[in-house]
Amino acid sequence: MMTPNIPYSYYEEAATFIQEQTRHHPQVAITLGSGLAPLAEEVENPVVVPYADIPHFPRATVEGHPGRVVLGRLAGMPVAVMQGRVHYYEGYTLPQVTFYVRVMHLLGVKALILTNAAGGINPDFRAGDLMLIEDHINLPGLVGHSPLWGPNEERFGPRFPAMNKAYDRGLRDLALDVAEELGIRLQRGVYVGLGGPTFETPAEVRMLRLLGGDAVGMSTVHETVVAVHAGIKVLGISTITNVAVDTLEAEEEADHEEVLETGRHVAPRLAALIKGILSRLAAEHPP
Ligand code: HPA
Repeated sequence: MMTPNIPYSYYEEAATFIQEQTRHHPQVAITLGSGLAPLAEEVENPVVVPYADIPHFPRATVEGHPGRVVLGRLAGMPVAVMQGRVHYYEGYTLPQVTFYVRVMHLLGVKALILTNAAGGINPDFRAGDLMLIEDHINLPGLVGHSPLWGPNEERFGPRFPAMNKAYDRGLRDLALDVAEELGIRLQRGVYVGLGGPTFETPAEVRMLRLLGGDAVGMSTVHETVVAVHAGIKVLGISTITNVAVDTLEAEEEADHEEVLETGRHVAPRLAALIKGILSRLAAEHPP
């Protein structure tokens, strides 16, 4: 597969355009997965920039992903909230899928909070649970489908980035701490990233469980790779929107409506957790 590299100037043009719209200098970017868009409504003094207006930005095409950046303050932290993301299965290249991450880096973002909707593979998980991503299995990445494929752009990061600390330890500890303080149950586990758009067969779900996966989804891993490459700290939180079906006998089927519905139901709890994390970050590193 040929993945054309995106010129450095495109990232600069997008970052300059966004910075021209606002005096906010975001330090944390938050990406909202399927059904989780309402969190962006809590941003104070918001400046809203539709993806369609930003030079070279790919457009979100999936229901539940409005497609705009909301800049402002949330719990005392200057943030850029990505209200919706684009996915590989929409027909974008991996550099397009992760374009915004490098734009955020150029804007000065130091930490990226990635949220997503995911199917539960761990038998202890229930629909509506939140899961802290401790590590990931990037299945497309393992066979060469990487957003870093092609000549390395040294201005962003090294040729061979390490991934053993992909999900920042300090941010994970902070998330667990805040969850406990707020009485929010936060599961922990390994997120498996797949290409989609099909949901998994029962045999695939059993395979992913054997491989050590706890949750499965169609996003996040590429964004994590590009963020880590650029030195951005990553915190990942999955909402378990459905339990992945692991037997041919089951009557139920995964469907996008259920994913969106559970996402809406969980969104206030996720919002409380993220705001708690941001206010602790703001206290520890005053913006
Ligand atoms: N599989 C893959 N992606 C998902 C799922 C799932 O069951 N639920 C939400 N996103």
